[in-house]
Amino acid sequence: ALRASFASKAHSKDRTIRYNLQPQASFRVAVLGAAGGIGQPLALLIKMSPLVSDLHLYDIANVKGVAADLSHCNTPSQVKDFTGASELANCLKGVDVVVIPAGVPRKPGMTRDDLFNINAGIVRDLVSAVADNCPGAFIHIISNPVNSTVPIAAEVLKLKGVYDPKKLFGVTTLDVVRANTFVAQRKNLKLIDVDVPVVGGHAGITILPLLSKTKPSASFTDQEIEELTVRIQNAGTEVVEAKAGAGSATLSMAYAAARFVESSLRALDGDGDVYECSFVQSDLTDLPFFASRIKLGRKGVEAFIPSDLQGLTEYEQKALEALKPELKASIEKGIAFAQKQT
Ligand code: NAD
Ligand code: LMR
Repeated sequence: ALRASFASKAHSKDRTIRYNLQPQASFRVAVLGAAGGIGQPLALLIKMSPLVSDLHLYDIANVKGVAADLSHCNTPSQVKDFTGASELANCLKGVDVVVIPAGVPRKPGMTRDDLFNINAGIVRDLVSAVADNCPGAFIHIISNPVNSTVPIAAEVLKLKGVYDPKKLFGVTTLDVVRANTFVAQRKNLKLIDVDVPVVGGHAGITILPLLSKTKPSASFTDQEIEELTVRIQNAGTEVVEAKAGAGSATLSMAYAAARFVESSLRALDGDGDVYECSFVQSDLTDLPFFASRIKLGRKGVEAFIPSDLQGLTEYEQKALEALKPELKASIEKGIAFAQKQT
């Protein structure tokens, strides 16, 4: 959960809502693509965090107004705006966590892979600047197709000699957020308690919710498993269709990304009990990258949880095998793109 940060100290005697007026740590966070549909609400949620001292907002346009607007919130972090490639290096210097939601979103009828041609180059160039200016930062990749953009980022970092696989994350938190919501609704469970690990990747059948590992444990009929799995896999498309050409998920994505940023900052701050699902370099399967639950620590990925992939149901085991060829192809496409550029 986004910890108590939205709730704690929220009420004072005069019943005014007060958000996090007391700094609790001083981390620097940069958002690249900060003027976009995800970038703006994500920047707002990060501005609420008591763990952040500096919030750097970068975009190719329209970021000055977003930063001016946000800077009036009386929460501890200082907001600065950076516009265009000439200001990117300054945006990144000294930053602890870089979040990248830059790039184009889907329209109805498109797959996430249809975004590859535009977003691959955007991610390559932004990660290259990250490598030059804050090579030790945690990097959170939101830009789609995540199954390819994360391998692209890894290759760019390798070419620059600064790749630390423990610090590169594909953000799949929205899949978990959706799974938790849909399972709680379907099984009439208390939302705050529900946690469903989602593994694999972040597109279509590569999104695999492990319903058998739901906490608190719940039992599902075969029909429930099928319907919930398909709904979680198609939830992005559900939003794309509802927005009818005006983009894809932005608000739920901002919520999910803010949760992943908050978890990363807590880990950086020494909290020893931080777990999230993320698409990372992994030995859990024969694929080089795989989303699964990880333990986060000061140095990034601290541990994998191999038991999450053990004792799967027959349905889950089949779905896991079925997703591998598509995920492998998307990973290889990203790697080939990055290697071709050199
Ligand atoms: P958007 O078009 O509203 O915003 C994108 C922003 O990126 C714009 O402000 C644009 O100016 C900026 N941008 C473009 N090129 C840039 C560059 N070179 N450097 C910096 N900024 C640049 O799109 P959105 O709805 O915010 O979605 C952004 C991306 O996030 C899309 O690729 C979308 O598919 C992806 N997404 C991922 C998830 C996930 O779960 N990982 C969820 C939702 C959306
Ligand atoms: C999502 O899952 O909402 C995102 O990946 C955006 C999309 O294109 O569906």
